[in-house]
Amino acid sequence: MSIVQPELHEQTLRFSRLIQGVWRMAEWQQTPQETLSFIHQCLELGITSFDHADLYGDYTCEAIFGAALKADPFLRSQLQLISKCGIKLVSQNRPQHKIKHYDTSREHILASVDHSLQALHTDYLDVLLIHRPDPLMDADEVAAAFTQLKQAGKVLHFGVSNFSPSQFNLLASRLPFALVTHQIEISVMHLAAFADGTLDQCQQLRIAPMAWSPLGGGELFSGSSPQAVRLRSALTTIAQLHHATVDQVALAWLLAHPAKILPILGTGNLDRIRAAAAAATIYLTREEWFLIWTASTGTEVP
Ligand SMILES: NC(=O)c1ccc[n+]([C@@H]2O[C@H](COP(=O)([O-])OP(=O)(O)OC[C@H]3O[C@@H](n4cnc5c(N)ncnc54)[C@H](OP(=O)(O)O)[C@@H]3O)[C@@H](O)[C@H]2O)c1
Repeated sequence: MSIVQPELHEQTLRFSRLIQGVWRMAEWQQTPQETLSFIHQCLELGITSFDHADLYGDYTCEAIFGAALKADPFLRSQLQLISKCGIKLVSQNRPQHKIKHYDTSREHILASVDHSLQALHTDYLDVLLIHRPDPLMDADEVAAAFTQLKQAGKVLHFGVSNFSPSQFNLLASRLPFALVTHQIEISVMHLAAFADGTLDQCQQLRIAPMAWSPLGGGELFSGSSPQAVRLRSALTTIAQLHHATVDQVALAWLLAHPAKILPILGTGNLDRIRAAAAAATIYLTREEWFLIWTASTGTEVP
């Protein structure tokens, strides 16, 4: 699988063309040995980038993954770890949180990264993202925290998630280095990023956006909305022409975009991950791409 190398950034930054998300990892009920084997099999498929957040699995997923890294110290240099901070969940694992809220204070960012490093059994994150835009975000304060983390070697690169283009610009304006990615919801079921300027900005800055819920969080397969029904029909037709499956065509549709969208897979099913890896070899015609667009919107383009 090809590797995307963001053009404007240091040669040290690499993401695999597909990223493996671990939001649902606690639900997979893997033994530590199974988690280790899972990571190895992802690497064999060319999936070397893993998407975490401090709060995934009610603050447990980083430690599940970290136990595998501890068991096989040679793994760390073969993969890229992305993690996030900035959301405080009410959780028995964080009894000090009284209501769900955002916190992008310097103090919280630094503490969250230290916690992630400890849980993951690593001394650096490849990328840290601010998980959601915080109405109280002080861009100078976030910039100071990012700079401190970079200087300490604890985080190599930084990005954001779910920001508007203007929120992205605000933070970028205060940083002495470039943000390297923007993680957003994009899929055949969620087209907002095409119209709200987010994908335009990524192309303008030549940063590869990461697509969360690239299969609509499973809605593509199970949803009964008219949109989901239309999409399943269109994707099935095109999949048959390519001797492929619905999920592969939905991923190929994202991969076809010139912004070099990096889909983040959510499944822990290795057969599905194997199928997804093969999506990189499916090339849709422009007409097929727009057939899917039209099935999603329910109307032909103006
Ligand atoms: N930045 C953010 O705010 C944010 C938000 C949400 C997610 N994320 C990241 O994005 C990653 C992916 O999100 P996601 O899990 O919603 O992704 P997704 O791939 O769109 O959805 C995964 C769901 O779809 C199901 N699925 C996948 N392939 C299938 C198939 N071929 N047939 C039937 N069902 C299928 C999975 O079921 P099985 O597990 O049974 O296969 C799972 O329930 C997360 O792990 C996380 O890293 C980030």
